[in-house]
Amino acid sequence: MSSLNGEREFRINIAIDGPAGAGKSTVARKVAKRLSYVYVDTGAMYRAVTWDMLNAGIEADDEAAVLERMGLLDVELVPGEDGQRVRLSGRDVTDEIRSLAVSRTVSRYAQIEGLRAELSAAQRQMALRKGVVMDGRDIGTTVLPDAEVKIFMTATVEERALRRFRELPESEAITLQQLEREIAERDELDRNREVSPLVCAEDAIVLDTTLMSIEEVADAIASEAERILARVN
Ligand code: DC
Repeated sequence: MSSLNGEREFRINIAIDGPAGAGKSTVARKVAKRLSYVYVDTGAMYRAVTWDMLNAGIEADDEAAVLERMGLLDVELVPGEDGQRVRLSGRDVTDEIRSLAVSRTVSRYAQIEGLRAELSAAQRQMALRKGVVMDGRDIGTTVLPDAEVKIFMTATVEERALRRFRELPESEAITLQQLEREIAERDELDRNREVSPLVCAEDAIVLDTTLMSIEEVADAIASEAERILARVN
């Protein structure tokens, strides 16, 4: 739809939050493509920092060391032909950050206030000119509280584990039951941390995607965006 794409047209920001494996990134990428908006995967930024800390041997409970090292890092999300690439101080780490080692520890680093402050500031910067679909845990509540469309995506933990299980490379030795337990633990950490916990924004639309297809969820979000855009354009 040309009215959604024109440079001079009003653009909006779309915030998509929810627990691990709810399908946020797949859906966010689709919605961004439909609207010709930029997709920003904030989880990838937390993962990239975690990957670096693990390599540097810096534990999440050594906050001072984490923050000192953080000052040296440059996390970039670069739109590419086959989707967004993640670069850490110039190195492409797109595949490395999806490892189980990173998934298992990222929530611990993501609890550190100074680290969150830096990544949130970078995320806000990316959304300044509008036209972003940003997914994460605290986008509608903390990073972009003024986003015109806020979505909170959920699904049962069983369904979310199954979705993540299907995405994992075969080289990762883990059973579905184990993955389910790990996802439940990660949700617990993300929901109960002191700084910017995973909570549903008061003005978010809640979508339980357990029984919905990716297309149905993307349609629901795109229609909401189009409804808002029709009002202002
Ligand atoms: O979306 P994901 O599973 O790739 O996110 C990885 C971790 O990063 C997740 O456990 C919580 C954290 N995260 C966060 O705390 N805030 C965000 N905005 C995005 C992710």
